[in-house]
Amino acid sequence: MATATQAVQLTDSVTRYVAKTRQMLINGKWVDAVSGKTFPTYNPATGEVLANVAEGDKEDINRAVAAARAAFDTGPWSKITPSQRGKLIWKLADLIEQHAEEFAQLESLDNGKPLAIARIADIPGTIDMFRYMAGWATKIEGNTIPISAHGAKFLAYTLREPVGVVGQIIPWNFPLMMASWKLGPALATGCCVVLKPAEQTPLSALLLGELIQEAGIPDGVVNIVPGYGETAGAALAAHPNVDKIAFTGSTEVGKLIVHAATGNLKKVSLELGGKSPNIVFQDADIDATIPGAAMAIFFNHGQCCCAGSRLYVEAKEFDKVVDGVSQLASKIRVGSGLEPTTDMGPLVSEEQMNKVCSYLESGYSEGAKATVGGSRQGDKGYFVKPTVLVNTNEKMKVVREEIFGPVVTAIPFKDVDDLVAKANATEYGLAAGVWTRDIGKAHRIASQLRAGTVWINCYNVFDPAMPFGGYKQSGWGREMGHEVLNLYTEVKSVCTPIS
Ligand code: NAI
Ligand code: MG
Repeated sequence: MATATQAVQLTDSVTRYVAKTRQMLINGKWVDAVSGKTFPTYNPATGEVLANVAEGDKEDINRAVAAARAAFDTGPWSKITPSQRGKLIWKLADLIEQHAEEFAQLESLDNGKPLAIARIADIPGTIDMFRYMAGWATKIEGNTIPISAHGAKFLAYTLREPVGVVGQIIPWNFPLMMASWKLGPALATGCCVVLKPAEQTPLSALLLGELIQEAGIPDGVVNIVPGYGETAGAALAAHPNVDKIAFTGSTEVGKLIVHAATGNLKKVSLELGGKSPNIVFQDADIDATIPGAAMAIFFNHGQCCCAGSRLYVEAKEFDKVVDGVSQLASKIRVGSGLEPTTDMGPLVSEEQMNKVCSYLESGYSEGAKATVGGSRQGDKGYFVKPTVLVNTNEKMKVVREEIFGPVVTAIPFKDVDDLVAKANATEYGLAAGVWTRDIGKAHRIASQLRAGTVWINCYNVFDPAMPFGGYKQSGWGREMGHEVLNLYTEVKSVCTPIS
């Protein structure tokens, strides 16, 4: 259809990719589900089926875990050198770079995000993550330990060994990048993996599987089983031959994962929800803060675990900041991710759209008012208008619970101690923002916030070298940086008398 702004023409390879039922990757082979079942993944801009995908279940998870187990225990992966591992991960990054446009298009189609965002954020972020982790493969070291026991001389040292077979369950908000956050450290440390992508967005992880093979990563080291959480995901979390489970998603499912893991006490790392405070002091550079606060909530349509969803503004500047953020929100062009003029795409699914809209209704029923947006856009596709809610307070559901959509609640503050208490009065502790020109205050507030990341005069800055994760119910462990290596290694102490 010819429109004033012609939608991007899909590459032939992407058109072909979605036309075929996608299989799962087990032990280096592309196979159907044991049950023969498939499930649809949808284009959230239209609500139409985008592609059909093999539906993994317990049986498929069993086969994938057996393949990963064999690759880890006796396969080529157990004998490979760190340098070879690093080289393979780097090669994978190069291959992703060569296929960057295909990945960006698939991500936009499957998730709904603007193609331009996938091109500048998701795909380069994925490539950087693998390159950063490629470097770590050769640098995973233990220590020598001075020993005083028994008054004798000992040589004691630690080894950092791969934890083993890792189950990885990832969400749909950054499908490929979440795969890289999980696979990168697993491969760098020498683990083997069964990856379960989110049912809403399985396509980019499956294309990644093809490149994992092309890079020469041995069969069985990475197995990819698409399917639903309650079946494939639950089977992976409970599997007795899995040594560790790494999960990103809702806090509710995070708790189910913890329960499922008790059978064999597998290690668990969790990256869960958030309700992050974004705090603006009156001495901030307000002109820079307004776009920063808008981006903090509206980036990725608010579908970020770290979204700056509670905007606290010092009373004197409250109206100016709320007006500024509302004006920017009103200019955000909401549409299909493939339209070049689109700034914000649809939410990922009908379920998420309905969830966000029901939060809006709950807000209105408790007295909140939208200064901009405030409802679904159109009746086709899963679009929600960027929204700023005022007349809100900490008792309201919209201020307490994670909405995971383009909705920010704005609240004025006067007293700093009270502000810090309110900012921390949440079951979450993933991230926070502080905007001020007073550097002493900035760092003092940063130290008082119970959150895994504090951004000062910026927001949503990510780097593979900077750890990310949550306090409180936002999770267990830190991803990225050298911190993540701890999640994928066991420490072995070796000790011998030398006198
Ligand atoms: P979810 O937590 O249900 O899904 C995340 C992943 O977990 C998916 O791969 C899913 O298949 C899997 N899963 C679901 N149930 C499972 C189970 N019982 N055992 C093992 N794996 C399971 O999240 P959902 O339903 O897609 O979104 C609901 C809410 O979760 C969102 O509105 C948002 O608040 C939050 N969320 C947070 C994310 C984050 O980045 N921390 C990402 C996605 C969602
Ligand atoms: Mg769910």
